[in-house]
Amino acid sequence: MSTILVCDDNIAVAEQYAYDLRRLGHHDVQVAGSGAAALDVLSRDAIDCVVLDLEMPGVDGFGVLQALQDRGSPVPVIVYTGTGSYDRCVEAIRRGALAFIDKEEPVERVAHEIEMAIERRRMRDEIAMLRRYADDESALLGASPAMRALKDAIVRVAPIPSTVLIAGESGSGKELVARDVHRLGANPREPFVAVNCAALPDQLVESELFGHERGAFSGAVVQRKGAFESAGRGTLFLDEIGDLPLPAQAKLLRVLEERAIVRLGSSRALPVPARVIAATNRDLAADAEAGRFRKDLYFRLNTHVLRVPPLRDRLSDVPELVGRLLESTCGRFRCRRKRLGPAVIPLLMAYDWHQNNVRELRNVVERMVIASDGDTIGPEHVPLEIREAGVSRDTAGAMPGRSFLERKAEAERQILIAALDQHDWHVTKTAQDLELADHASLLKIMRRHGLTRPSTA
Ligand SMILES: Nc1ncnc2c1ncn2[C@@H]1O[C@H](COP(=O)(O)OP(=O)(O)OP(=O)(O)O)[C@@H](O)[C@H]1O
Ligand SMILES: [Mg+2]
Repeated sequence: MSTILVCDDNIAVAEQYAYDLRRLGHHDVQVAGSGAAALDVLSRDAIDCVVLDLEMPGVDGFGVLQALQDRGSPVPVIVYTGTGSYDRCVEAIRRGALAFIDKEEPVERVAHEIEMAIERRRMRDEIAMLRRYADDESALLGASPAMRALKDAIVRVAPIPSTVLIAGESGSGKELVARDVHRLGANPREPFVAVNCAALPDQLVESELFGHERGAFSGAVVQRKGAFESAGRGTLFLDEIGDLPLPAQAKLLRVLEERAIVRLGSSRALPVPARVIAATNRDLAADAEAGRFRKDLYFRLNTHVLRVPPLRDRLSDVPELVGRLLESTCGRFRCRRKRLGPAVIPLLMAYDWHQNNVRELRNVVERMVIASDGDTIGPEHVPLEIREAGVSRDTAGAMPGRSFLERKAEAERQILIAALDQHDWHVTKTAQDLELADHASLLKIMRRHGLTRPSTA
């Protein structure tokens, strides 16, 4: 829900607008009776849009606009005026107002302008965030349709302080996603604390999460801060949440609801400002149904879910991933940069990576680097089980749950990669082979798909 501020020296008019806007737009509306009062609210509260009267005694509408500009405030302002003076409205726009309306106009117009202003602001924020996504070094590789959809979802959910659940198969990149949510969140410079719920013995899990006082249990010889406290205003990442013992689940739910923790052996509640991200590779819905996971906690976690696609749903990311993995593996092994011979990528793109997704691919790249003596990795260095898997591509049944458009785009991407690989990424030859008009047409399609020659191909 957005919060609107209506500012008018005639309080009755402001209240009427507030009433109508609450009813029409389901907004939260605040009212200010003077320019000074409005500036006061704006410096204190998060306001999404201001509806501002121009003629007021004291600080008038122009004064408010000026002050907002001086503060560098991004809040959109819609001015209204009763005098119908066009010049004054133009002047207001010049001073930073987004739109103007006449007091005679129906309130629906105002509501509409507000929606537009908020939407514009949201889009601007999102574009700024996407830029940040592109500029910064995100460890999350891949420009396949499925990965783009995931990155869009990350950008959308990151600024919201709510709890996020990341679901995906083993090795699909859940931890990298969690780090991106943190990086793009409100407090990227605060700590990112990860706790693997599966790795902790049952007796220790609660003390690890919530901390304990000295003497809280035998062995608790010193006071200890828990992970919630260590995360501070940053992010607490609860990995393998499905393995959290049931008693700890009950406590976690309470913490999420009350935004406060109590250390073991203490009775004092401490506030929890950290954002919580949980991850699982299990089917939590099924676990909740079977009584292995608390239903109430599951519903609490299930509000914002990021689903990390398995690698088999984005095989067109394989070349980029292999390029990077080759680079890092050769770096780690201190061997010469090896390159991929033809026909390797198609083999890797015909496999379904069902066991461990990207982690499995990383292991295979390591094995190929070790298996090849020279500088070039050929199909003979691809592990036998992959060469022989001979995945029967069931195109119609593949990528369940994904939209037709996404599947179509992924297929197109894979066709391009196969053709490019066959011609050693020679654009003109590939364009001819695909019977495209010229190499510029191919380049255009490649750009649309975010395709460039993998660094070590
Ligand atoms: N999209 C990606 N781009 C680059 N590297 C990736 C990507 N996805 C996964 N990886 C790499 O694959 C490995 C596994 O990723 P990660 O640990 O994030 O997976 P996970 O989903 O948390 O797995 P698990 O369920 O086993 O905990 C890591 O080395 C990670 O760097
Ligand atoms: Mg993990």
